[in-house]
Amino acid sequence: YSVSKTLNISKLFDTILQQVQEVMNVENCSLMAYDPLTETLTLDAAIGLPRDMVGQIQVKVGEGIAGWVAQNRKPVLLKDVSKDIRFANHHGRLDYKTRSVLSVPIMHDSSLLGVLNVNNKRSGEAFFEDDQNLLLGISGQISQAIANASLHEKTDMQVAELSLIQELGKAVNSSLDLDSVLNYFIDMTTRITDSDRATLMLYDDAAQELYVEVSRGFDDPEVLDVRLKLGEGVAGRAAQLKRPIKIENTGKSADYKELPNLKRKTDLTLISAPLINKDNLVGVINCERVLSKKGPFTPENLDLLETLGSQASIAIENARLYHNLLNVYLETIRSLAAAIDAKDSYTHGHSRRVTDLSVGIALEMGLARSEVDTIRHASLLHDVGKIGISEQILLKPGRLTDDEFETIKSHPHIGAGILNSIEFLKNVCEIIKHHHERFDGRGYPSGLTGSEIPLGSRIICVADSFDAITSCRPYRKPLTFAEATEEVKRCAGSQFDPGVVEAFVRLRSSKHRPPWFQGELLDQSAADEYPLQL
Ligand SMILES: [Fe+2]
Repeated sequence: YSVSKTLNISKLFDTILQQVQEVMNVENCSLMAYDPLTETLTLDAAIGLPRDMVGQIQVKVGEGIAGWVAQNRKPVLLKDVSKDIRFANHHGRLDYKTRSVLSVPIMHDSSLLGVLNVNNKRSGEAFFEDDQNLLLGISGQISQAIANASLHEKTDMQVAELSLIQELGKAVNSSLDLDSVLNYFIDMTTRITDSDRATLMLYDDAAQELYVEVSRGFDDPEVLDVRLKLGEGVAGRAAQLKRPIKIENTGKSADYKELPNLKRKTDLTLISAPLINKDNLVGVINCERVLSKKGPFTPENLDLLETLGSQASIAIENARLYHNLLNVYLETIRSLAAAIDAKDSYTHGHSRRVTDLSVGIALEMGLARSEVDTIRHASLLHDVGKIGISEQILLKPGRLTDDEFETIKSHPHIGAGILNSIEFLKNVCEIIKHHHERFDGRGYPSGLTGSEIPLGSRIICVADSFDAITSCRPYRKPLTFAEATEEVKRCAGSQFDPGVVEAFVRLRSSKHRPPWFQGELLDQSAADEYPLQL
């Protein structure tokens, strides 16, 4: 039994523990997962302990320090473990090197998920209250990650159920983004029912209204402005009653509402089917067909739409859940990016500023919203692979040896590896992997040239370099804005994509300019004052 393996978040745990070790400067830290069936704790992830212990070490609740924490759901802070009466009996079990111990429960609501342990500060100092609070905070984040991963697992199971309507199921598996699911669904229902027009409305919980999210067969974009209260019109009634409604002839229906400027003489036949997931209203699908074509919709059409509707609502819900899950990942990794920046006071806020500049350039280049989002995530995480590189090399003041430089050069790869397991971040991975390529092909890791390099990587490369040369470094003063811009222009065509450089040069006087991007000497701390939109 392994929480992290079943939930496929072991990578995340390793990364979190690595950070714990780093931040708290401890010899080792470990995460034990609780199995309520057997009432045991199993070592699920560890840093600073032999690899082969993971999955092997088990303790009963009540046994040893972790067992005590599990039983009492309370943290334990020991300055000297050999002097604590509670654990005197178990002293023999402990590694003789263990002196100070801090151990906290991982709780979700009121149930125990596991125990998080750290041992021995490298400085030799004991743990204090502050350390305990920090570790409790981290434990809360882990609990959130587990809770969300469980949600993810449930979502996966629901996806499997979709095999009922195989085609839709396939679409959902291959595409978990909401837009594709909605578009696929409306296309399929339109085709199956041979409809001439269709709208897919989603339910806005806060406003208690339905609004049109996607439509087919309407020439007038005004259809997207339609909002209906529950009970209003046929769709509103179907939503309120939570059952599909068939109108044989719209010309004879008092409930039917046509858009004022779409009034047409033709009579239609209509089905409005609510999309309901676990009794919650998700939206309504409306299909309309010219009456004279094939006559009114049949009861079979009604049944089919009802079935499709319930499947689609699961798909929509899944897409939303995946989206939320993605955000938790991003949030976790964003804090990791911040931790990387924090390791080196000279690069403080670097990832953040590179993100602002990259997004600005992307907008200036007129990229689509989804591309801009991808670039936003990639630039925020571009150096996350530095987690895997020792501080000794990362912060070395003097010249690097060839070997050390080779190590540094592995960070794009490590970074892409960390994010590789997350389906949504595939594009982000590619961009991160190539952010040190040069336009002329003399960069790393792959030596790609020109448009072989993902556009996002080419953008980040400019933003990254610009921020580096305008930042304070121990060995040189920052360049002014004008000097740095000249330098960037000089490297257009060799290091940088000239098109990206052009957009970058325009950025300063563009509406996409980040608010802190002004003045001759850039006030880099100013970026911290603006909230970052993920
Ligand atoms: Fe980098």
